[in-house]
Amino acid sequence: MEKIIIFDTTLRDGEQAPGASLNQKEKLEIAHQLVHVGVDIIEAGFPVSSKGDFESVRLVASKVKGATICGLARCLKKDIDAAYQAIKIAKSNCRIHIFLATSKIHMKYKLKKTEDEVLKLAIEAVRYAKSKTKDVEFSAEDATRSEREFLYRIIERAIDEGATTVNIPDTVGYSDPEEFGSLISDIKNNVSNIDKAVISVHCHNDLGLAVANSLAAIKNGARQVECTINGIGERAGNASMEELVMAIKTRHDIFSGVDSSINTKELYKTSRLVSRLTGFVVAPNKAIVGLNAFRHESGIHQDGVLKEKQTYEIIKPQDVGFMESGIVLGKHSGRHAFSARLQSLGVKLPQNKLDNAFEKFKALADKKKTVYDEDLFSIVEEEIKVTPKVWQLIEFKVSSGTGMAPQAAIKLKSKGKIHTAISSGDGPVDACYKAIEKIIRIKAKLLDYHIDSVTSGKDALGEVNVKISAKNKSVIGRTASTDIIEASVKAYIEAINKIAAK
Ligand code: KIV
Ligand code: ZN
Repeated sequence: MEKIIIFDTTLRDGEQAPGASLNQKEKLEIAHQLVHVGVDIIEAGFPVSSKGDFESVRLVASKVKGATICGLARCLKKDIDAAYQAIKIAKSNCRIHIFLATSKIHMKYKLKKTEDEVLKLAIEAVRYAKSKTKDVEFSAEDATRSEREFLYRIIERAIDEGATTVNIPDTVGYSDPEEFGSLISDIKNNVSNIDKAVISVHCHNDLGLAVANSLAAIKNGARQVECTINGIGERAGNASMEELVMAIKTRHDIFSGVDSSINTKELYKTSRLVSRLTGFVVAPNKAIVGLNAFRHESGIHQDGVLKEKQTYEIIKPQDVGFMESGIVLGKHSGRHAFSARLQSLGVKLPQNKLDNAFEKFKALADKKKTVYDEDLFSIVEEEIKVTPKVWQLIEFKVSSGTGMAPQAAIKLKSKGKIHTAISSGDGPVDACYKAIEKIIRIKAKLLDYHIDSVTSGKDALGEVNVKISAKNKSVIGRTASTDIIEASVKAYIEAINKIAAK
């Protein structure tokens, strides 16, 4: 069985998704989970791009064991130096990833360089990176729009200089599976020293083909795929890791000689974590990790699944760490059933957090007829949050109705002191946010607000995501409650607390 190397770039290309920004702690939390799910390489960032990025990459390299830690660099000495300084603490498990555009359009308009100049830069950069670490990856940016002969030549020279992985990015998501598969096969046939390096692919999703293109590349000899959790990334995103891995696993008849080392049972948890920390909600119809991915609505389908799951399920929900559909726990469930269910979902909490989570579960079960696994994940996420509680919600009251201006009264606690304020607003949530602002005296700009239902049903938890910016920082808050105004207030306070803590 040949291994497909999973190169995860959630923390680099994923974080480049407009609106996604992660702090150091959040990056570290994701990196630990990436090891848990079994990725081989973590691209932790682009160290030269900012001091913050450098520090996050260094933190990940120093704390995360069990995967190779990679730093991105342009073909410039200062970039390679920064990447190496950030990752060197990972010793033999560090990789420098250098990239340079090879398409005519990029060379002419962006780089303003000729082919020969680009070739020289690439050779010197690989040589320099190789003098720092044995594990060097070279990416021919915009490879799919590059002239074939030039692409073959630059890859060959990069390998000559010691590149151990050569990456073929479909930078603008322009290719289609047949064309991309042929490109990989042509590279195999036309680059004389290709057997000395691993062929990698890095596909973007502008035409919705990132996963299909990556799979076509695997069929034609690529042995590393670059991907992100939930497919987040620049513009329309990158190839989604969970989709790639499950396609290989589910269609072993087609991908017979290959496998990855991903523990697929950790996929759902990883997806939830990335979604919570980036604030990017996973669409319900998203393959593998969307809430509807294993739900059957029509009578014919339900009937089929009840008779034999395989009629409409090509993947067992449990195989991706998804909860089984149906009722899980209710208000009569005890502590033992609660902790046993968490355990079977792969959630481990220290005793004090488990106790708090159980209290929250009981409170929820009183309001909600049935408590699903999705609800349990929401409760647990609340418990494991590390946001400092600078401001705590004590009480809120809202009144709104036809023909009246919505009013809110808010009571918050900070450092043992109670603060109250009232405000009107355009709606009940706006009134609450304005009252909160009066107390905390931070002028925050609401960049995004959305609400999603965690499960179906009239009594479902509403999960509110807010993104605010203040003091030149933008942060996310996310909270779920059966009361959507309460969820809105708590999510806002969580975001404010992140700003206050900074
Ligand atoms: O999309 C791209 O080409 C990249 C490179 C840096 C690999 O992200
Ligand atoms: Zn990319």
